[in-house]
Amino acid sequence: MKLILLGAPGSGKGTVAEKLVRDFKLQHISMGELLRQEIKCQSALGRQIKETIEKGNLVPDHLAIEIVRVVIKDKNNYILDGFPRTAHQAKDSLDLKINKVLYLEISAEEAVNRISGRRVCEKGTHTYHIKYISSKKKGICDIDGTKLIQRKDDQEAAVRERFKVYAEKTKPLVDFYKKEGLLARINAAKSPEEVYQEIKKALDLSKYS
Ligand code: AP5
Ligand code: MG
Repeated sequence: MKLILLGAPGSGKGTVAEKLVRDFKLQHISMGELLRQEIKCQSALGRQIKETIEKGNLVPDHLAIEIVRVVIKDKNNYILDGFPRTAHQAKDSLDLKINKVLYLEISAEEAVNRISGRRVCEKGTHTYHIKYISSKKKGICDIDGTKLIQRKDDQEAAVRERFKVYAEKTKPLVDFYKKEGLLARINAAKSPEEVYQEIKKALDLSKYS
């Protein structure tokens, strides 16, 4: 199964992906996470990416496409989280033969509320929220035991820019995938468990489990 998670910053893409990975053994391909890994390598490319991400802008299409193609290779079971994000990326990815695009619908107000309380483990893999999704031990990741921190691009100016970019470049993909007959709208404003149940229903996961 090949899925795309589409939605505003903070809509819950990463949170949903963690559950799908746990239950259905899909590979989670998070473009944001791949880019943040590159930053950690402190390469020249990593330094350019850091500047772009921390301002809340998108990295160039050719770079995002190249990274995804390298990771996907000939895999058949994955979740693309945060890719495609532009019309160019979406058109270029049509040959991947995606099964479903899950569009996580949420108001900007709720998404900002979620981002402001988000904490991630130092590895950047596991996500929590100070009010809604807490770790068992305060400030420590349940899974890998590392400290919980705030993402650099979760500061106010970058968040504002990310929403602007999302509205201009990514939101139009909702219509694009609707026309392709791939779109499933998910009410992402509900609790994590309710969102996940709605997704399983939309995917008719009995076919795959
Ligand atoms: P990326 O890391 O993908 O950031 P994003 O799209 O802004 O999305 P987020 O990760 O902020 O939110 P999310 O939807 O994953 O929500 P989460 O599950 O964490 O990309 C970062 C940057 O990389 C981009 O800005 C860009 O610069 C670059 N980039 C990435 N892809 C690119 C591409 N294709 N092309 C070019 N550039 C690219 O949830 C948010 C919070 O809410 C968490 O605290 C969580 O615990 C909580 N939460 C989740 N669900 C619920 C719920 N149901 N109820 C209550 N709380 C919840
Ligand atoms: Mg995410």
